[in-house]
Amino acid sequence: MIDRLEAIQKEAHEAVQTAGDLKTLEDLRVKYLGKSGLVTEILKGLGQVPAETRPQVGKACNEMKNKITLQLDLKREELEGKGSVVTPREWDPTLPGRVTPLGKTHPLTAVQKEICDIFKGFGFDLAEGPDVESDYYNFLALNFPPDHPARDAQDTFYLGRDVLMRTHTSPIQIHVMEKFKPPHKFVAPGRVYRHEAIDATHHHLFHQVEGFLVDEGIHFGHLKGILDSFIKKFFGPRIKTRFRPSFFPFTEPSAEMDISCVFCEGKGCRICKQSGWVEMMGCGMIDPAVFKNCGIDSEKWTGFAFGMGVERVAMFKYDVDDIRLFYQNDLRFLKQF
Ligand code: DAH
Repeated sequence: MIDRLEAIQKEAHEAVQTAGDLKTLEDLRVKYLGKSGLVTEILKGLGQVPAETRPQVGKACNEMKNKITLQLDLKREELEGKGSVVTPREWDPTLPGRVTPLGKTHPLTAVQKEICDIFKGFGFDLAEGPDVESDYYNFLALNFPPDHPARDAQDTFYLGRDVLMRTHTSPIQIHVMEKFKPPHKFVAPGRVYRHEAIDATHHHLFHQVEGFLVDEGIHFGHLKGILDSFIKKFFGPRIKTRFRPSFFPFTEPSAEMDISCVFCEGKGCRICKQSGWVEMMGCGMIDPAVFKNCGIDSEKWTGFAFGMGVERVAMFKYDVDDIRLFYQNDLRFLKQF
């Protein structure tokens, strides 16, 4: 069948090329494309073609019809004296270009970059670590005792007895401190994984930015100064910070940093549950036990660390009330950023 179509097309092409006047051309049009023309008949008979090859044959027929139509039109223009080297039908330079929709950076990537860029402005470098960690880096070296509840299979995705998906970006502290000598001044972004049910505020995959600074004579005042400056740069100069005592195995003392609610500026609203404050990140002075595990003399060096959830920060920045929206790839959501 395809062979036959090719033969007809070849024959039509030759006939059209040799046509010397408009009358002959019109006869050719009727012969091939007229009501009972050759091409028209074949198209009508498509129903009889076996179903497996019908799409292929149908496509070939349509292509042939289009080609013959174009050849007839070009020849007509030529015979009418309107022929040009490039006909407008083939290429019209006056037409406006086609607009191709452009993609853009995902809001989480953009927020993660914005966070890191602010710290880079404070002189921090960027560090990375593996998503798949050993128990040692994710827990033990960070001073989690072997029976700490965070190791519970409820929270951690284990790949083997000692191999797991990192549950936080804090293990990057250990990799860096093992590899380089202090002083240290790093931010370390990355994906983290938790064996958790998904709801509006929890996801089993999310992102954190870890930060840590180690030098001589570093104290809690430095921690407060850096984090307060970061918040003011990120959310605006009117946002206040406060530090509440907390606990993390790898910091002593540990704190939770709250910021004044970015929606009501501390007056109290639905988002901050009328308290005027929202929890932003964990932080603290690096525990001497962590320094010891990395071979760093904690008599000489001190430092602070902090860790924040990128989704959480992004939700406050953009007033997004459901973390799942970041992962559904719904263009109606993504186009807003
Ligand atoms: N790793 C902690 C978490 O995932 C967050 C954190 C808290 C990081 C305090 C820190 C810190 O560096 O000092 O919950």
